[in-house]
Amino acid sequence: MTKKIIEVTDLTKEYKQLKAVDQLSFDVYDKEILGLLGPNGSGKSTTINCILSLLKYSSGSIKIFGEEMKPDSYEIKRKLGVIFQDVAVFQELTVYDNIDYFCGLYISEKKQRREYIKDAIELTGLEDYQKFYPRQLSGGLLRRLNIACGIAHKPKLIFLDEPTVAVDPQSRNNILEGIRKLRDGGATIVYTTHYMEEVEQLCDRIIIIDKGKIIASGTSDSLKELAKIEEKITVEIKGLSDEILKRIETFPNAAAAEYDGERLTVSYRSGSANIGDIIDFMRDNNLRYTKIYSERPTLNDVFLELTGKELRD
Ligand SMILES: Nc1ncnc2c1ncn2[C@@H]1O[C@H](COP(=O)(O)OP(=O)(O)OP(=O)(O)O)[C@@H](O)[C@H]1O
Ligand SMILES: [Mg+2]
Repeated sequence: MTKKIIEVTDLTKEYKQLKAVDQLSFDVYDKEILGLLGPNGSGKSTTINCILSLLKYSSGSIKIFGEEMKPDSYEIKRKLGVIFQDVAVFQELTVYDNIDYFCGLYISEKKQRREYIKDAIELTGLEDYQKFYPRQLSGGLLRRLNIACGIAHKPKLIFLDEPTVAVDPQSRNNILEGIRKLRDGGATIVYTTHYMEEVEQLCDRIIIIDKGKIIASGTSDSLKELAKIEEKITVEIKGLSDEILKRIETFPNAAAAEYDGERLTVSYRSGSANIGDIIDFMRDNNLRYTKIYSERPTLNDVFLELTGKELRD
């Protein structure tokens, strides 16, 4: 059986009347990338901060590496890497010296530290920026520095709290690639985000949370079965009449049809020739469209099905 690296049982954190985390229970297994996916304010950071013993929680228990995690669990803490949601680096130090500083908190031997810093710089693709100061870096590069500082000591368990907010696509890909490499190197990863595309690409297992509660968990594919739709077809078309929309709604396999003036979206519960049927219907009714495409349900559809609202704000 795979080893449990984190065990969270009935975790609850209250701020006055608000239950920011409400009876959460979940495990994280050795060398997996676990995604915590939830909208703003759903309790992702609070959960991580409780696991790290940075926040006092109201009730529940937390074990890391099989032992109870407490504020003074220094043996456990030495093996953790934490990348916080807000970038925390020294403005007075260069990229290299920032990484050296954080790595030096754990690794005192100079030669080994130099090796580790080199690995961290390579992993985050900061080779060309070693002498830069944080203020000289773009948002994406700064986030990459934040990550390099958090992982340079080669932790066994790494927490990344929304590490890609407001970064350019190149940095985003670099960050996701780096996280995969960390896992391949033997680390276990807990990754929080409100970007569903990221957890789909990156995570072995996903926990969807809303209002401090777990609403679903599993692999991306198993979660999508909860969406109860099989396929979504979008047609880019102008001036579709209500009468035509009503006819589309009655297609045998169609679950719902929506039109916003630009895009017609038809959701299907089943069927294998849906896109062909729509193309035939458009042609038979002389309806001219610019684009037509089919998509599998997304995690947003799952979220919508379970909560009645969108994952994105
Ligand atoms: N110190 C605090 N005092 C009172 N309420 C708080 C405090 N910190 C967080 N909260 C509330 O707890 C809830 C969960 O917040 P949390 O920061 O964990 O969410 P999140 O999922 O990390 O959101 P985001 O995506 O915005 O980072 C929110 O409603 C937030 O307003
Ligand atoms: Mg947060």
